[in-house]
Amino acid sequence: MKKVSVASLLKKKQEGQKFATLTAYDASFAKLFDDCGIDLILIGDSLGMVLQGESSTLPVTVEQVAYHTRCVASSTQRTMVVADMPFMSYATPEQTYENAAELMRAGANMVKMEGGEWLCETIQGLVDRGVPVCGHLGLTPQSVNVFGGFKIQGRGDAAARQLINSAMELEKAGIQLLVLECIPAPLAKRVARSLTIPVIGIGAGKDTDGQILVMQDMLGITAGYVPSFSKNYLAATGDIREAVKLYIDEVEQGLFPAAEQSFDE
Ligand code: KIV
Repeated sequence: MKKVSVASLLKKKQEGQKFATLTAYDASFAKLFDDCGIDLILIGDSLGMVLQGESSTLPVTVEQVAYHTRCVASSTQRTMVVADMPFMSYATPEQTYENAAELMRAGANMVKMEGGEWLCETIQGLVDRGVPVCGHLGLTPQSVNVFGGFKIQGRGDAAARQLINSAMELEKAGIQLLVLECIPAPLAKRVARSLTIPVIGIGAGKDTDGQILVMQDMLGITAGYVPSFSKNYLAATGDIREAVKLYIDEVEQGLFPAAEQSFDE
């Protein structure tokens, strides 16, 4: 079984083949997703909200992400494993290197960080030291207090231009994947077409190269608020494996997200 890599995701992008990814935080779900053919599992700091019941991702620590990364990495073979760098764990170069190393030692193949141009030096430093990086733009939940809530980003010409510039700068700095969260679908399409690297969307419309959902949202078991851009695949199938396979199928065919799970400009 060939492990999914940045190169294989890039090949999919180049061939116009869409790919499906999910978050997971434990060995049982991670193995099931791996077996079903999910290309990438993110140990997101969303774990603060969906596992710990917090109202934001801010309380999550590096130790917690490392613990869940170990659980996921030890039970998967094919899928790529990406671990989130939590809030304030990449504020200085020293902190960044130490914390990224902890997540890589726990089994991550890549780390993900939220932010624009201000992160470029940090990204270059990590890549130079052998740590692949995934960027994250749009609604970056660690900045919820700056945004004044979980709000759609990138609406209006100036915000859209800013987001496209940030994406291009991050790519130049060395990110190998980019997550776009909660932005208008036409903007996400422009970003995906402007970048060489694969772009993964959540609440960003159907024209990104890949899609990601928080696993609890796609299974309809989220305790709190369920975002409108998600879809309950368990309700449609009644079986977790079938739900994941249907999600993969709909992403690959360009059926998910549909217009009702997307935002306009
Ligand atoms: O923390 C997370 O799960 C994420 C995804 C929603 C992309 O960042």
